Amino acid sequence: MLGKLGRWLEDRWFAPWERARQQRRLLAYCPSFAPILAQFEAHYPEPGSAGLTSFLERQDRQIEADSLTYGETPFSTWIALLKHWKLSPEDTLIDLGGGSGLFSLLTHTATGANAISIDRIEAFASHGHQLVEQLDIQGVTFVCDDFCHVELSQGTHFYSTMTCFPDDLRAQLSAKLAEAPSGARIATVTFALESPFIHREAHWKHLFPWGWDDIFLHRRV
Ligand SMILES: C[S@@+](CC[C@H](N)C(=O)[O-])C[C@H]1O[C@@H](n2cnc3c(N)ncnc32)[C@H](O)[C@@H]1O
Repeated sequence: MLGKLGRWLEDRWFAPWERARQQRRLLAYCPSFAPILAQFEAHYPEPGSAGLTSFLERQDRQIEADSLTYGETPFSTWIALLKHWKLSPEDTLIDLGGGSGLFSLLTHTATGANAISIDRIEAFASHGHQLVEQLDIQGVTFVCDDFCHVELSQGTHFYSTMTCFPDDLRAQLSAKLAEAPSGARIATVTFALESPFIHREAHWKHLFPWGWDDIFLHRRV
């Protein structure tokens, strides 16, 4: 009974309230993001809308796999990361499993860096293409593919929420990041990368929708 009440309170009250609070923080950090956020909200109006998009496509295409489980990073975590990384227009962020692509859109708007959001869910890429066309955004690309099949050498910064990635996918991704140039910065959620050419520099704890989780900051040696 208490569990059901807790879930009801979380869905009906806490999730929309927390989303509004996160949006205020985002716009305080990057006021010019307002038109993009407005378009984004029109397409994904509820806190669970992007998750539902992913769920329905996985059902339709029968590509259910734990690694494709959808969950979102809070905006405050991305803001902390962008402040720490200090990207410039010469940089390129690659979001490995970028989901709806909001982090790529924010990174480009806030820093001028190019951004590439890669995800296996087609609906994320097709909405992303539509949005960048509508708002005439030049520096953000959406790719629908397995990130293990995409060339990563142009990335200077990488982000991946690896929370639901099994051991073998994490190992593949660690190996794949050998393509990143020396000095590239790599942030991962939940799991650190294990590789002789990736050096772990720092470890943060942040609150995610699923609870407190770890963020590992690495540098390509
Ligand atoms: C937990 S969600 C994170 C979404 C977003 N990056 C965020 O943090 O808000 C993980 C995403 O990775 C995507 N994904 C999982 N495996 C992938 C793969 N091999 N190639 C591309 N995308 C993948 C899933 O479809 C999902 O959208």
